[in-house]
Amino acid sequence: MKNIIFAFKSNTPKYKQIYEQFKMLIEQGNIHANEQLPSIRELANSLQVSRNTTLMAYDLLLAEGYIRGEKRKGYFVNKVETLLFQRKNNSFQSKQTERSLERVLIDFRAGAVDQKLFPLKTWRKLYNQVLTLEKSYLYGEAFGEIQLREQVAAYLLESRGVKTDANSIIIGSSTQQMLVYLGHILKDEFPGIIVEDPGFDGAREAFQFHGFSLETLPVFESGADFSKLHSMKEKLIYVTPSHHSPYGVSMPIQQRQTLINWINKKEGYILEDDYDSEFRYTQQPFPALASIHSERVIYLGNFSKSFLPGVRLCYMVLPQPILHRYKNRFLHFESTASLLNQLTMAEFMKEGEWARHIKRMRTIYRRKMQHFTSHLKKQFGDHLTIIGEQSGLYILVKVHLNYSEERLIQRALKYGVKVYPTNIYFVNRSPNRPIIKLGFAHLDFDEITQGVKLLKSAWL
Ligand SMILES: Cc1ncc(COP(=O)(O)O)c(C=O)c1O
Repeated sequence: MKNIIFAFKSNTPKYKQIYEQFKMLIEQGNIHANEQLPSIRELANSLQVSRNTTLMAYDLLLAEGYIRGEKRKGYFVNKVETLLFQRKNNSFQSKQTERSLERVLIDFRAGAVDQKLFPLKTWRKLYNQVLTLEKSYLYGEAFGEIQLREQVAAYLLESRGVKTDANSIIIGSSTQQMLVYLGHILKDEFPGIIVEDPGFDGAREAFQFHGFSLETLPVFESGADFSKLHSMKEKLIYVTPSHHSPYGVSMPIQQRQTLINWINKKEGYILEDDYDSEFRYTQQPFPALASIHSERVIYLGNFSKSFLPGVRLCYMVLPQPILHRYKNRFLHFESTASLLNQLTMAEFMKEGEWARHIKRMRTIYRRKMQHFTSHLKKQFGDHLTIIGEQSGLYILVKVHLNYSEERLIQRALKYGVKVYPTNIYFVNRSPNRPIIKLGFAHLDFDEITQGVKLLKSAWL
């Protein structure tokens, strides 16, 4: 410690106040053992007191063993049993307890993936190779690197049934960024858009950014309600059919057909956000809407859930008229996606690493999902309803207790568990019971078990 300043009170001698201040800092561990204290002169200068005053304070600390003097070096702090002091000091202890209870031990965040199984070695190797290429030192193609667009086209055909070619694919940095760009070319023809309620708030933000008016399609835990679809005004619709955000339901094939027939009649467009279709645990993934009818579907996918959110890569497949408009509009804009990540991802896919990674992660996430839901059922019984356990990297829990969503979040935090709200997804409706969002992809099995136990202590 080089120096210290603090305000003196008027009713106690200053040397005593300096002594008390240092004693407290040492006991609470703010100044560590063997740390050097300011010299008598330095301390007197910074506190604007006489040297005699600081000398008297240090003498008291020396006498009580808090500090020691070392010849020609100065004063140093002795090792003291901080825990012993904490127990004696009640007010300090209660503050400390409060703080440690609010420390986050388990964070059920949804926007994270498993770090331990990330293919670090392979990714690093390929990234290093990419860095040796001459083209890595340029800007790159405006609509994305051809190598990556080709790989994405092959992947979409194999895994999602979408027949497309590299030229109809645009690479971007995030779903929201693509929606904002799309908005620029759609807003003149389409003044409004239908969004799911509840639905992805990030997409709504992007539409509202352009001033689109929003019409809502009600969605329930069992799926979307299409009964009013034919009386809807707007001709654009944004949906998450493979894994509804946030309920997690998949749109059945009959509804997909209905939606396609409806959009054909309307001559509008469906914006299909296929954001984490890779992780379906109970059945094969459903084919994408874009595989049924590509002319009226704008398809969006990303690498955030299936690979790494920080890689900031996503793609969209555009029907021809929209593609032409898009390319004309953004011809003179540089790509927003990292060239290095694009080239590395292209190699990663080409070498089969991508398919291997998804397969491995699907198995591990399926096990985590089973572990998580079985523990929740065991600990909570009928007090919780689990929503969306068939797919994805998070679940929702409907809580049948007398607490609001906010209260559930606060109570969990008191026990060191961070959980997330769902009210942000609702537009014109709200659920009959609070629903909490719990992501698990980045947690290991023991952490999931511990998190559930802590939640039980917090909520039951
Ligand atoms: C519905 C939905 N779409 C897309 C994304 C991915 O967004 P980004 O491309 O910014 O990672 C998310 C992320 O949580 C999401 O919930």
